[in-house]
Amino acid sequence: MKFVIQGGEKLEGEIEVMGAKNAALKIFPIVFLTDEKIRVSNVPDIEDCSRAEEMLLAMGHEVKKVGKGIVEIQRKSNKCVDLPEDLMNKFRASLMFVGPMLVSCGEVNFPHPGGCVIGAGTRPIDFFLDGFLKMGAKVRISENRYRITAKKLLGAEIFFPKITVTGTESLMMTAVKAYGTTVLKNAAMEPEITALADFLNSIGAKIEGAGTPTIKIQGVKKLGGGEYGIIPDRIEAGTFAILAAASKGGPITVKNCDPSHLEALWSLFDRIGVKYKLGNTEIKIFPGRGLKSSDVATHEYPGFATDLQQPYTVLMTQAKGSSLVHEAIYDRRLLFADSLTQMGANIIMADPHRIVVSGPTKLHGRKLISPDLRAGIALVLAGLVAEGKTEIDNIYQIDRGYEKVDERLKGLGADIKRV
Ligand code: EPU
Repeated sequence: MKFVIQGGEKLEGEIEVMGAKNAALKIFPIVFLTDEKIRVSNVPDIEDCSRAEEMLLAMGHEVKKVGKGIVEIQRKSNKCVDLPEDLMNKFRASLMFVGPMLVSCGEVNFPHPGGCVIGAGTRPIDFFLDGFLKMGAKVRISENRYRITAKKLLGAEIFFPKITVTGTESLMMTAVKAYGTTVLKNAAMEPEITALADFLNSIGAKIEGAGTPTIKIQGVKKLGGGEYGIIPDRIEAGTFAILAAASKGGPITVKNCDPSHLEALWSLFDRIGVKYKLGNTEIKIFPGRGLKSSDVATHEYPGFATDLQQPYTVLMTQAKGSSLVHEAIYDRRLLFADSLTQMGANIIMADPHRIVVSGPTKLHGRKLISPDLRAGIALVLAGLVAEGKTEIDNIYQIDRGYEKVDERLKGLGADIKRV
């Protein structure tokens, strides 16, 4: 499947934001922490969520779609089986099942997880393993497989050498039913973590401090069931806001979002001269002429998200002056810039973590391949801004995280076809 984009159309109107992928993916493993039903709403219809649902089904549990974006999940079997290898290969968040399964089964066997190829080697999981060890588990590694066992999980003090989102969430979920108190230090502070902690607390967990660098979890014996509404996807909202800033049409309103999750982007918009208005659940962007360049360095929340670096790089090709884009979190997240260069952008790679983008430059349509999720959507943005036809292959990578993005972009007047 590929997207064929005829660039240069004037975009304007409204576009809706879906539920956050990186919040939704963390809810499915909670099935292993409670016997009761969990009803989840605002679930995005994306490939990664489908894989997480297939994972539960493959292990004998229930996943019922009861309405648009509403899914009920429940533990249906006490039998403990290995995590399905083919599904583990498809997305990194599959790793989120390990902690809860360790709590409920005392043993987990799994291969190294897949996902976007953006980090060192195959994206390490050492912080997870160190955390499980600290909580009293045993870890055996052979070739590409892991076997983790724990007769009893104990509360522990765990300091993360580097801030990790899924690491924080995994150990938080594991500690929820461990014996005693766990303190996570240098924890990640992303809104998805706060949302997860709020939900776990609503079904009986005792978590304090989520959204700060120190999270304290008092283990409890039992969790109940409940309802969880997925928060809006801040990366999607930021991506659409950046597209609006790059487009030369009329105003664009990004709806159903939480602008307070994107303060780093608004401060950059102020610097580069984008005019916008923030509401409680929407953002209106007024396309301007004469964008100025500004350097950016990605940072853990509340800093500028690494998942918005790629769309921002596209925007900088349209701004006057040079901008240094410093990708501080991942090693391979700037390689996609080569595709922008093929489209006519003036980008120099200083080192694997830094590029210099000089603009403004006209972009021209090209045949490209989506290397991963966030780079993929950035190429879509570039195709919309460019003159002529752009073809983007391997759009499974885009569908992993953006629900029917082509349909929603068409609503703004974009000429984009899925073929
Ligand atoms: N790291 C380690 N060891 C570990 C874990 C992480 O060295 O055991 C390093 C990584 O190599 C990286 C840094 O720590 O350099 C941050 O990695 P982190 O663990 O925070 O990444 P993640 O939890 O795997 C989540 C999101 C990413 C998002 C980052 C932002 C999910 C499922 N994924 O990843 O989302 O970029 O946080 O920090 O929540 C995406 O949606 O496209 C995506 C990649």
